[in-house]
This record gives sequence, structure tokens and C-alpha cells, in this order.
Amino acid sequence: MPVILAIESSCDETSASVCVDGRILSNVIANQTIHEAYGGVVPELASRVHQQNIVPAVQQALLNAKVHKNDIDAVAFTRGPGLLGSLLVGVSFAKAFALARNLPLIDINHMQAHILAHFIADEKPKFPFLCLTVSGGHTQIVLVKDYFDMEIIGQTLDDAAGEAMDKTSKILGLPYPGGPLIDKNARLGNPDAYKFPEPQIPGYDFSFSGLKTAILYFIRDNVAKNPDFIQENIADICASVEKRIATILLNKLKRAAEEYGIQDIALAGGVSANTGLREGLKNLCAEKGWNCFIPKFEYCTDNAAMIAIAGHYKYLQGEFVGQDVSPMARMPF
Ligand code: KG4
Ligand code: ZN
Repeated sequence: MPVILAIESSCDETSASVCVDGRILSNVIANQTIHEAYGGVVPELASRVHQQNIVPAVQQALLNAKVHKNDIDAVAFTRGPGLLGSLLVGVSFAKAFALARNLPLIDINHMQAHILAHFIADEKPKFPFLCLTVSGGHTQIVLVKDYFDMEIIGQTLDDAAGEAMDKTSKILGLPYPGGPLIDKNARLGNPDAYKFPEPQIPGYDFSFSGLKTAILYFIRDNVAKNPDFIQENIADICASVEKRIATILLNKLKRAAEEYGIQDIALAGGVSANTGLREGLKNLCAEKGWNCFIPKFEYCTDNAAMIAIAGHYKYLQGEFVGQDVSPMARMPF
């Protein structure tokens, strides 16, 4: 019955979670609002705020779980990928905590953890399954053969899907992070109002930079004709952009599932909170008779519960790392 303390600090959320025998008992997330003023995450500031938040987040996670620090069996932490300065705070905390209490350390890949978040729920996908992982920095179709045996079969060649959302919102003059605001506005708009191009990329790879340029030129040309164009049409623009991003993602996922003959399909990462994408995947799976796995909202964006559940499975496999471990800004599977 392992008791795992997990730490996540790869970007701008400081999070701590306690997991007992594969059940999540707490998941504390401290968001950093400081970046809003800059229109994006400022790495140096993120690192400093992590330093302020990490101890209170861990204390709160232990309190919420009603677990004493003496009862912890291992410390799991995000090793990468992410911002190096941010990762360093979580990695250093985990190492110090483990050293002081003579506990084993478990290093976790953040992108694998997004996928393993599906094992928090009672209804778990069966191996092998396909996972579309869409976040601010990554867009991947992953063939998940086992907990830590994953193969990326397609990924973005340039911008990530979340980046496309965030950059569109910036063009529209909305504050950072823009993804949730695109979602909110899209609910009131017509997704067929404007047609944006679908890139023709071979295989299961993606490209979003052309779409971003198309949106930029579309807005620029229309604002030149009507200065109030954005204000008057924001809902339709957001709905149309969201629909295009969702169809680009789902068309590739559909083809991958058909060609690999896989029936269990999962969604993961921050963009999996998007209403249009969630609905689109549900409809696709209903139409094809596939089993659909969509994470609860609290497990879509960055959180330590997903690090804890991944840590639980690594603990069972007896896979630990030493005190010489260091963070990795880029970290392959
Ligand atoms: O996984 P995540 O929390 O952090 C990374 O590891 O990158 O993903 C953050 C991304 C951001 O681009 C954010 O705008 C996007 O997820 N996002 C959304 C929504 N919620 C978060 N995009 C569209 N609709 C949403 N509801
Ligand atoms: Zn993430």
C-alpha cells in the first residue's frame, strides 16, 4: 500500500499530491497569475514563484490527504520536459525531502504522466490504446503499449495545439492564457462562420504555424475594412478557429486508430479541457463504436495527481533514481 508524495513544477503551476495505494487523496494546485501581465510565462518569474509556493502546497496536500509526513514511502517528481528553472525547484525539493527522510525517489516524464492520469479514474483504458496529448508545448499521438512503454507515432512539426489557441487569442487581444477564453467565446458562436485551412501533412504529424498565419492575415484584412470586426464577431471567430483545430487533431487521430486497429481512445493535456475537442472526440467514438476516455477537468491541465499515479506504478515496478538525478528541459519517453 505505497504512500506517494508527488511534486509537479514543470511550467507555471506548483502542485503537490498524495496518493495511497493508487487512490488520489489530495491534489493542490497553486496557479501563478503574475504572467498575465506579460502575455505569456516568464521563466525566471515562474521559478521564483515556485520557490514561494512549493512548501505551502506540500503542507496543504498532506493536510488535505490526512497523511503525516512520516507515513510517506516515496517521493515522485516531474523530471521533464519543461522550463529548466521551474523543474529545478520541484526536483530540488523532492531530493531534499527524500534525503532528509531516507526515502526513494521516482522520476516522472510529464508527458507520460498526462497520459497516465487516465488511471486515476475507476474506468481505465486497456493496453494498447491511443492517446492524443495536446498541451501548450506538445501535440502528440501516442501508442500506449504499457504504463511506461509508449511510442509517439505523430507529433507537431512546429507549434503545439495549445500554442495555436494561445496565439490566436493574442491576435484577438484576449489576455493570457487564451485557450480557456477561446473556448468560452466559441460556445456563443457559429463554428462554420469562417473557413480556415487544414494543413496537408503526411503521416500522423501535425503543423499549426500555417493556420496561425492564416488567422493573422484574416484578422488583419478584416480589421482594415472594419475596425470593429473582432469585437462584432469574436464568438464566430473563436468557434471557427476551435473547430478547425479540433478537426485537424481528430482527423489524424481517427486515421491512426483505424490503421492501428485500436478501439480505446484517450485525450490528455491542457487542451483536452476544450469543449469542442471533447465533444468532437465523443461524437467520433460514438460513431465508430470506440471506447472514449476523457479526463476530468482537474486532471487536464498541469497537476501533481498525474505525477502521483505515474509514481505509484513506477513504485510497484521498483524503478527508482538516485540523488544524482537532475531535471531535463527536453526528455524523451
Ligand atoms: O498541459 P498544460 O496545462 O501545460 C503544458 O504542459 O503546456 O496545457 C496548457 C495549454 C495552454 O495552451 C492553454 O491555453 C490550453 O492548454 N488550454 C485550453 C483550455 N484549457 C487550457 N485550450 C483550449 N480550451 C481550453 N478550455
Ligand atoms: Zn502539461
